[in-house]
Amino acid sequence: MDKKRKELKVSAIRNGTVIDHIPTEKSFQVINMLNLNESNHQIYFGTGLESKKFGKKGIIKISDKYFADEEISKIALVAPSATLIEIFDYEVRKKESVHLPERVEKIVRCFNPKCVTNIQDVPTNFSVINDHKGQMKLACHYCEKTMAKENIDFF
Ligand code: CTP
Ligand code: ZN
Repeated sequence: MDKKRKELKVSAIRNGTVIDHIPTEKSFQVINMLNLNESNHQIYFGTGLESKKFGKKGIIKISDKYFADEEISKIALVAPSATLIEIFDYEVRKKESVHLPERVEKIVRCFNPKCVTNIQDVPTNFSVINDHKGQMKLACHYCEKTMAKENIDFF
C-alpha cells in the first residue's frame, strides 16, 4: 500500500473571505491591488492550482476580513471570473461571482496625461462599457478617452 500523502488541502478558515477562481496569471496582481502584502491578517495564497474550469487558478483566503464594494469592484476589473466567498464560523454564508459595476469612481487613474483628473484635484469617474469586440473598457467621463484592461492603473 502506498502510504505517501499525495495531497494536502489548504486549511479551512474560521471567519473571513475566500477569493477563488482567479486567473492564475492575475493572482499576484490581486494580492498587490488589495495591499495584502501590507496586511496583518492571516492569509493563505495559492497560484498555479489545478482547476477543472480554468486549467490553472489562484486562490486567496484572508481571515477576519470582509471586502467593501469598492474593493470587490477592483477584483472584478482584474479578475472577472473570480468567486467571492464569505465564511462565518467555518460555514459558507455567501458565495457569488464578482460583477463589474456600471461606473468606476476614484479607484482607477485616467491614462490620458492631459485629462483634468491628472492635472487638478478631480476624482476620476469612468463608465464601464463593452467595445464592438465585446471587450470591457473604461470610458472617462471627463476626457472621453477609453481605456482597455491592460491600461488600467489603480491609485
Ligand atoms: N472554504 C474555506 N474555509 C471554510 C469553508 C470553505 O476556506 N471554512 C473555502 C473552500 O476551500 C473553497 C471555498 O471556500 O475553496 C468554497 O467552499 P465550498 O463552497 O464549501 O467548496 P466547494 O463546494 O468545493 O466549492 P467550489 O466547487 O465552488 O470550489
Ligand atoms: Zn480622462
